Amino acid sequence: MILEKSGSFVQDARLYSSIAAEDMKKLEGFHRIRHVFNSAMREVSAKLETLDDEFEIIYDHNPIHHIESRVKSPMSIADKLRRKGLNIDTQTAVENLTDIAGIRVICFYQDDIYRIADMLTGQDDVELVEKLDYIANPKENGYRSLHLVVKVPVFLSQASQRVPVEVQMRTVSMDLWASVEHQISYKRSAAVKAKYAQEMMEFADDAHRLDLKIQDIWRRVNQE
Ligand code: GTP
Ligand code: MG
Repeated sequence: MILEKSGSFVQDARLYSSIAAEDMKKLEGFHRIRHVFNSAMREVSAKLETLDDEFEIIYDHNPIHHIESRVKSPMSIADKLRRKGLNIDTQTAVENLTDIAGIRVICFYQDDIYRIADMLTGQDDVELVEKLDYIANPKENGYRSLHLVVKVPVFLSQASQRVPVEVQMRTVSMDLWASVEHQISYKRSAAVKAKYAQEMMEFADDAHRLDLKIQDIWRRVNQE
């Protein structure tokens, strides 16, 4: 099953008040190259859907629960450049940010995340730029996901470009945890975040145990 959901991953109302109008003006040129990132994103999404279809034949199930994708808005590009202490302009963004095009792949089983990641990065026209395995090495707060940055070719009228796309892969339970954590950390004060850190850690461990259990059941079902 793939329920394609486009747009921003999470609308971050906080940004609207914090980005100055003059910063936004400096990114006006972005709208002329936005389509390139959109194409790269579509390219990677299509590859993932192809793999999902083939899995149905090989492993008798669809590994992908759903895919979300978005091209970063000028507002959040400006916010990220500012956080990184970089100039706010389109060229700096293109040269320094690898997540302008982003895809989130939600899978049923942890094993499938690695299978799909290996199949995607093994393709001739996919260049692996970065791989961060926060499943094997969770973040201190309990965050788990596999992050890839891949470059894919986008063919334009005059030339082709290799365009980076960030792919975040996680299970349904990792996604539930990340969504709740995002709401706590982005919309509330640092004090509230600290107050719930321990419980969020326990929630992350519970989610992980659930993933291992579901994975184990699925492995045994397949041996029947
Ligand atoms: P960037 O410069 O933003 O790439 O910082 P980074 O390289 O330190 O971050 P990383 O690439 O590890 O993660 C980037 C994205 O992963 C974020 O924009 C989130 O979407 C997601 N992410 C990473 N850590 C967390 C986390 O602790 N909680 C949640 N909810 N999402 C996270
Ligand atoms: Mg990163």
